[in-house]
Amino acid sequence: MIAIDGLDVTFHVKNREIRAVQGVSFEVAAGESFGIVGESGSGKSTVLKAIAGLVPSISRRLEVDGQEAAARRSRADRRKLQFVFQDPYASLHPRKTVDDILREPLEIHRESDIDARVGRALSDVGLLPIHRYRFPHQLSGGQRQRVAIARALILAPPILLLDEPTSALDVSVQAEILNLLKRLRASYSLTSILVSHDLAVVAHLCDRIAIMQFGKLIEIVTAEQLRDGDVGADYTRKLLAASRGFTRVA
Ligand SMILES: Nc1ncnc2c1ncn2[C@@H]1O[C@H](COP(=O)(O)OP(=O)(O)OP(=O)(O)O)[C@@H](O)[C@H]1O
Ligand SMILES: [Mg+2]
Repeated sequence: MIAIDGLDVTFHVKNREIRAVQGVSFEVAAGESFGIVGESGSGKSTVLKAIAGLVPSISRRLEVDGQEAAARRSRADRRKLQFVFQDPYASLHPRKTVDDILREPLEIHRESDIDARVGRALSDVGLLPIHRYRFPHQLSGGQRQRVAIARALILAPPILLLDEPTSALDVSVQAEILNLLKRLRASYSLTSILVSHDLAVVAHLCDRIAIMQFGKLIEIVTAEQLRDGDVGADYTRKLLAASRGFTRVA
């Protein structure tokens, strides 16, 4: 569903070059849940943005759903990939109601049956009809993230890109959102890439996990290998040792 080979992303800030991603390659099969972990600044978000065509990149191959992804994505391309970001407050328009927010993508794509689909999307993510006409500030953080997830899924995209979707949330709410994502992934047959700095979160939700450091991919391990500490790279072992509570949650 996603194939990247030799992905490079370089940012130019005042005469300086920042090589945010260097030679990253991996493939994600249809229906697979892929994870990316690594410390802050290691290039995780930039990989997701490159896949979505949100930053300029260079690669030998960058395929989405079996097609070479063009630098400028068409509306049909954009529809295949949806993003959920860390901070649901910043990503939801403060003066639009939940109803407006969910309706908008359907209207842009001239879909039919909009009212019913908004209602279904709300119940899919565990929100109630009373939440439909509220503004984002009238919802809890977890409820806002449910709205962001409903918006991402409302056009039934094959691919969901999740960038730290739970790290702004309370621990108890984190678990609820993670379980929701797990359930939706199955019911929507989604292919997903989840970025997190939390090894327990990716081990819980992902089949395979890429470890990144300084813009490079260090290794790819299975969730089972990560849980068992059966990893190849010293850096991954260090990350494992540093993630306190990992064994408890996993
Ligand atoms: N638009 C940009 N312009 C310039 N530099 C950027 C830009 N976006 C990211 N970078 C730089 O690229 C590198 C990788 O950033 P990225 O956001 O991908 O890291 P990350 O792994 O997602 O980190 P975090 O865990 O903190 O979110 C960093 O050095 C960052 O400062
Ligand atoms: Mg990031």
